[in-house]
Amino acid sequence: MEWLRQAHRAADRAKSLVSQLLSFSRKQLMEMCSIELNEVVQGMEKILRDTLREDIEIRLYLAEGATSIKADPAQVEQIIMNLAVNSQDAMVKPGCLTLETKEAYLDEEYARTHVGIVPGPYVLLSVSDTGIGMNKTVQSRIFEPFFTTKEKGKGTGLGLATVYGIVKQHKGWIWVYSEPGQGTTFKIYFPLEESGGDRSVPRPPTVMEKPPPPDLLNLDSLIAVVEDEESVRELASTLIQQLGYKTLSFSTPRECLEYFNGQTERPKMLLTDVVMPEMDGRELYRRLKEGTPNLKVLFMSGYTENVIAHHGVLEHGVTFLPKPFTLTQLAEKMQEAWGKRDT
Ligand SMILES: Nc1ncnc2c1ncn2[C@@H]1O[C@H](COP(=O)(O)OP(=O)(O)OP(=O)(O)O)[C@@H](O)[C@H]1O
Ligand SMILES: [Mg+2]
Repeated sequence: MEWLRQAHRAADRAKSLVSQLLSFSRKQLMEMCSIELNEVVQGMEKILRDTLREDIEIRLYLAEGATSIKADPAQVEQIIMNLAVNSQDAMVKPGCLTLETKEAYLDEEYARTHVGIVPGPYVLLSVSDTGIGMNKTVQSRIFEPFFTTKEKGKGTGLGLATVYGIVKQHKGWIWVYSEPGQGTTFKIYFPLEESGGDRSVPRPPTVMEKPPPPDLLNLDSLIAVVEDEESVRELASTLIQQLGYKTLSFSTPRECLEYFNGQTERPKMLLTDVVMPEMDGRELYRRLKEGTPNLKVLFMSGYTENVIAHHGVLEHGVTFLPKPFTLTQLAEKMQEAWGKRDT
């Protein structure tokens, strides 16, 4: 009866393809209602456990606060399923799939620099894996319909196009971070549904409203930025300069080390990417501190803090800035790093 099973499988595949095509072309009616994202994610845990290979560990880190969004729950499940299946395919060896929810605030500054974003409170859903990751060329094309790197018959290239379509219909925003060999993190921001009649949710304090303590605010301070991705490096430098500091940017840890070795007037703080090809951010900081013991550090990464901690790349307790970040978030984390005692 092998042919029957095959026919069934083909029919299933066709059915899911059709439903994906439908939601992709936005013909499917959405049933929007108020849902708790945490509940949807929790509900998916068992389904994923039953669906995914046994050598894939599933971890959940759920936000403690409200995660209310206005959404079609079936579509949110589809997002999670499509991302999880991609992650499974990327984890050719045993691996870990991490689902997280978190409160997030995208500020005016952020909206200005990212077309299509409305400033305000969001709920972040992130899906991370420990798979093979992607290079920049693949990353730039993943949301294109029919883009696939899988062999014929294995992938149609609609999974992420569908996810993208659903996210847009929810007025959300999707962001990907990946390095070859280092796994992938997708971050999806859904507008937070504000409870009650009062729609004016208090904004988190902005930089202007909450200046750093005077002794920490030494505007002559020089900050070193180390980041291999040019756009992030430039954005980080621009934001730091807007806060009033001077910056020096380096695209590799080696350049940064060389600069420190040759200078007497050294940066007071290091803002560095964590996962970089030749040397990780922690190692860079360790080496720089040998000659500059008072150097403060702020680690940034597109992977989530939980994922980074799980990899053992960073100890707990270090100041961590998740990418993508806003001016306010950067300012707050810089203050935090500044206030930390030297270790
Ligand atoms: N988590 C991931 N890790 C590594 N590469 C990924 C990941 N997710 C997506 N990709 C890459 O993006 C491509 C497009 O993904 P998408 O889900 O749109 O299509 P697909 O998985 O190839 O096919 P389909 O989902 O239609 O079966 C994949 O072929 C793969 O190269
Ligand atoms: Mg897919």
